[in-house]
Amino acid sequence: MNAIYFDSTFNDDIRRKNLYNGQIFVFSPSASAIALCEFASGMIEEAFAPLDPREAQHSLPVEKYVEILAKLKPTFIHHPESKKLIQGILKESGCDLTKTYFDVPRLRTATSDDYLTAGIAYAFHPHRDTWYSAPTCQINWWLPIYDITPENAMAFHPHYWSQPIQNSSREYDYAQWNKESRKNAAQHIKTDTRKQPRAEEPVESEPQLRLITKIGGMILFSAAQMHSTVPNTSGYTRFSIDFRTVHFDDVMAKQGAANIDSACTGTSLGDFLRSSDFCPISESLVAVYDTPALISISNS
Ligand SMILES: [Fe+2]
Repeated sequence: MNAIYFDSTFNDDIRRKNLYNGQIFVFSPSASAIALCEFASGMIEEAFAPLDPREAQHSLPVEKYVEILAKLKPTFIHHPESKKLIQGILKESGCDLTKTYFDVPRLRTATSDDYLTAGIAYAFHPHRDTWYSAPTCQINWWLPIYDITPENAMAFHPHYWSQPIQNSSREYDYAQWNKESRKNAAQHIKTDTRKQPRAEEPVESEPQLRLITKIGGMILFSAAQMHSTVPNTSGYTRFSIDFRTVHFDDVMAKQGAANIDSACTGTSLGDFLRSSDFCPISESLVAVYDTPALISISNS
């Protein structure tokens, strides 16, 4: 059974256990989350000026749009201010900063009416992040930068929490992906030929759940949760931020969600930074995970 907790007062240990069991947490905007969204929207508006970023797709050639995103996204992702604001969010959310590691925040764009759904604005088909070499203890944090509607939100497919699905994650290797595919994202405009893990049998996308939060309202979910980008029919581009965390104790103990159908190779763990001082996670710990994935390595 999946439940959704709104503004839960659980401590982080209990919250993580619940996330590993498939529960989803929604939080009202915190001061740092609002500050992160304002920081992002300032950068976005400058990049698209004088156009309204949510409507710019209607007046820009797609190649120009991609060019803007190709500059904007890495600037936001690697900006020291973005890291500091994530640190603030984690602190306000009751995380132990010395034990919580995060990956730099991604800036996502979901354009409307199939304007751009490949490469740098990839519209994600239903997937689990664990198919992409995420550790089973990874928690995803997702927040909209502008108001969203059900027509440009993200979707969860919670019935797949305990239901495996045949998928191509066995062909995904994290190191290989980093080497070849990610840096080429902006080259994929009309179609996306990068080999991504996906279901190999029909996905029942219904029932699905679309959670609509305020600007900076956060959705937390396990990396094993099946989710997708909603086909955007709103007329407005959706801009959102997501980042991932892992807790040191859970990494050490191999605690996390059950791995029911992922068989990818390698790990994204090496990307994580300690939230107290932004030091990378230790290489020896990454090495423990940097092997072919095993089915059912852990459960909570
Ligand atoms: Fe994802």
